Amino acid sequence: MPRGIAVLDFGGQYAHLIANRIRRLHVFAEIVPPDADARRLAGAAGLILSGGPASVYAADSPGCDPALLDLGVPVLGLCYGHQLLAHRLGGCVRPGDVMEFGAARLRVRASQGILAGLNAEETVWMSHRDTVIEPPPGFACLASTDDCPVAAMADDRRRLYGLQFHPEVTHTPCGMAILANFVALCGCERGWTMERYLDALLAELATRTAGRKVFLLVSGGVDSSVAFLLLNRALGADRVLGVHIDNGFMRQHESAQVERAMAESGFHNLRVVDASDEFLACVAGVAEPEEKRRRIGVQFLAVRERVLADLALDPQEWLLGQGTLYPDTIESGGTPHAAVIKTHHNRVDVIEQLLAAGRVVEPLAQLYKDEVRQLGERLGLPRHLLWRHPFPGPGLAVRALCSHGPAAAGDREAEALGAIGEAAAAMAATAGYQVALLPLRTVGVQGDARTYAHPAVLSGPLDWDRLEQASTEITNAFAQINRVVFLLAPARLPPLRLRQAYLTRARLDLLREADAIVMGALQDHGLMDEVTQMPTVLLPLGAQPDGECLVVRPVVTDDFMTARFCRLPAGFLAVLRERLLALPRIDAVFYDITHKPPATVEWE
Ligand code: XMP
Repeated sequence: MPRGIAVLDFGGQYAHLIANRIRRLHVFAEIVPPDADARRLAGAAGLILSGGPASVYAADSPGCDPALLDLGVPVLGLCYGHQLLAHRLGGCVRPGDVMEFGAARLRVRASQGILAGLNAEETVWMSHRDTVIEPPPGFACLASTDDCPVAAMADDRRRLYGLQFHPEVTHTPCGMAILANFVALCGCERGWTMERYLDALLAELATRTAGRKVFLLVSGGVDSSVAFLLLNRALGADRVLGVHIDNGFMRQHESAQVERAMAESGFHNLRVVDASDEFLACVAGVAEPEEKRRRIGVQFLAVRERVLADLALDPQEWLLGQGTLYPDTIESGGTPHAAVIKTHHNRVDVIEQLLAAGRVVEPLAQLYKDEVRQLGERLGLPRHLLWRHPFPGPGLAVRALCSHGPAAAGDREAEALGAIGEAAAAMAATAGYQVALLPLRTVGVQGDARTYAHPAVLSGPLDWDRLEQASTEITNAFAQINRVVFLLAPARLPPLRLRQAYLTRARLDLLREADAIVMGALQDHGLMDEVTQMPTVLLPLGAQPDGECLVVRPVVTDDFMTARFCRLPAGFLAVLRERLLALPRIDAVFYDITHKPPATVEWE
């Protein structure tokens, strides 16, 4: 490989982020499988062993070629990679007494080498169960946290380093300094740029498509818009056809806006197809999130086939283009050791088969959102499209939660929830809050694995510091709770019951209206750039028989692999309280106060 950093991917949710961060330091970085042969990596300037969901003691835990440690280049192990180094080299790894997820206080003993320039105390981002309790012979312990005795270790003589925390996520503020220390220890040249990447990508697309044409679904979001521009630039407009499918799960007036925006930007090879009836039919009576996503993914392909047939395009001549980003692949379990967090619509089985047959082109598959925006800027995508809040492919379908009703929830679960609720209530009472558990489940991500657990509601004063602390304590203490929301309105939580509800036009229209209110209020208060994304979610929970609840989920993130919930001003919240509660059938409005991890941005 070219002289740069090879990142061995052990399936960690952040593995590709490591490569993204190294590239931001203008150093070439490549992701390689964990069992890559040491000879293949001989040209690398340094190696990073990523995190991953496994435990080093599990029978099938992934390892790496032992000869890698004899290459004589610096090696940095992160999270699982840190534990793997410790385990391999004679240190001691144990399941931690306390699992650590989220921010932790790092006490730095030696700010030198890999930790050069750090303060005596730093905030770092943790997401782990196992812990190194003793470093291997030859290693010095450089830093620790309250729950992690060996949070950083180094053998300076052999240039081997291990960190339990994640320097690659933005919530570790000193993370880039640590990675810069590492590339300096590797003696890397810092000359890699996005222009060079764009040139290479255009050339690769021309070779890869070998004269064939590409048919691309364009949702209007930044990813598919950049992919559309990129393909137009690489292949020419004659060899690219964009189709925007209105699946019925779009925001208010969204499809019309996408069509207008592309036409105004000079692209006339985009068609709009209304397939909302088909999509609604395919999810009728479905409540389980993965099943919804799977059916929507399959339906996208069915519509694509129909459109191809209607246009009389030869499927052999036309490849399928997708604006898939790296996080979509990794969260769908698309790399060898990654756990499935949620199946993104562009990673369903049929697409996997097309991928295996070499019939899919994904020009952005190595990149993260920030890199895609940089590419889009260079390709001339208008600012308002470039900086739109992202919107998931399955759209409002994953923001309107569904349920088969209370009978399906089961008595056992209710009993177990009662006991947890009492324990959580005692914990929150010390912070001055009342707690209730909601009788439905949402998707989360903890320690590189998917969770499907309950949200808890906190009622009480709006004190962000106390709310954040209570949210972190509750989700760390109870595996059955992966998300915490704050009651915005009404003043007291009404008794809420789960009811049978599926994806219907009426529910989607209600959610569309609520979403338009939230987006409009964000705009009016000049807060659009304060939050990266702000889903509004509809819950089939009501005090009245056909009642519903709404949740707003403002987050700040630049890579979507981790995120912080965002604290928005009281004046804005007052508007939301009043306007959302005034919507028909809405019985309560919540504000999601959970970071990612432990909760994902979307609720399912
Ligand atoms: P999560 O919920 O995984 O979201 O924390 C991270 C980012 O991904 C978006 N997302 C999707 N995007 N298809 C997409 O194109 C999907 O199926 C999908 N699911 C989540 C989400 O909106 C957020 O920006």
